[in-house]
Amino acid sequence: MHSTAFFLGKGGVGKTTLSSAFSLSIARSGKKVLIASLDPAHNLGDALGCRLNGEPKEVEKNLFALEIDLAKWVDKYLEESRDQLKSTYSYNLTLNMDSFFAILKYSPGTEEYAVLWAIEDIHCRLAPKFDLVVFDTPPTALSLRFLSLPAISGLWVAELTKLRERILDRRQTITRLNPESPVASSCVDKDDDKVYGKLRSIRARLAALGALFSMESFISVIVNPDELSVFEALRIKEELTRLNIPVSAICINKQGVSNAAWAQSQELAELPQFQFDFSREGISTREDLAMIGVDALTQQFLKKGK
Ligand SMILES: Nc1ncnc2c1ncn2[C@@H]1O[C@H](COP(=O)(O)OP(=O)(O)OP(=O)(O)O)[C@@H](O)[C@H]1O
Ligand SMILES: [Mg+2]
Repeated sequence: MHSTAFFLGKGGVGKTTLSSAFSLSIARSGKKVLIASLDPAHNLGDALGCRLNGEPKEVEKNLFALEIDLAKWVDKYLEESRDQLKSTYSYNLTLNMDSFFAILKYSPGTEEYAVLWAIEDIHCRLAPKFDLVVFDTPPTALSLRFLSLPAISGLWVAELTKLRERILDRRQTITRLNPESPVASSCVDKDDDKVYGKLRSIRARLAALGALFSMESFISVIVNPDELSVFEALRIKEELTRLNIPVSAICINKQGVSNAAWAQSQELAELPQFQFDFSREGISTREDLAMIGVDALTQQFLKKGK
């Protein structure tokens, strides 16, 4: 059985609605579910009818929800990076760390890393207390960037690890040839080298997140009966295929919302598909969520692993 699900798709297609309905249905069937919103502009609490924060809150029996505090995760990520730099380069007093980090806070990539480490925290610290974890995701661009980080950063870290190995090898050679060399007093062994150890631990953390995305998760992409959301779903699928992350299901939400012509793409039609009608009365309460027929989707999810 999968134990993690992600709902992706264009803005407004129904990620929060369907991920909530899905979580609610599985919780009411007796499994303990955590739904976590990764969207910086949270509205999961509105959908579930309760106020949420960064820690799991019981919404009803078996259903817990949280909204990650992205600002906190950005600060935590920068704080850890700062401590790391300070302890590694304590001799370098010329680097003005404070102004460097003030800029880094607003640099591209910082938010994506913060989301990634928030997912890691949920996966490692909270997921063991639940039968499954469901992620309601932010808009496509941010989601694709954090989903691609384990692969991209993994390559970087692999290269840096090789570089560090070469440095340690050279140090060993110099120390052998000249035990009096100043290098002899520095670290020459992988097991004692702080930098090597740090690279190894980041690599392991990224590999675990990569495996979570590509092998352990049920990935649903939501479309509406309109061409723009289909184009976006195709882009998501292509990008995920490049990252070796298989799409598990296509959810066609808001069926019947308009009479405008729209076409399903062949590429998406090959995947398991699930249909959800547009509710003219709107979806404003938890009981409205419970009325969305998600049984076929939850059964697909509950089938044993892919
Ligand atoms: N099947 C449906 N029938 C009627 N209304 C729906 C349906 N699905 C979603 N909606 C409505 O569409 C709006 C957008 O849905 P939702 O917030 O779930 O989308 P989203 O993809 O999470 O949006 P965002 O990208 O802003 O996070 C909401 O008002 C929601 O109630
Ligand atoms: Mg949403």
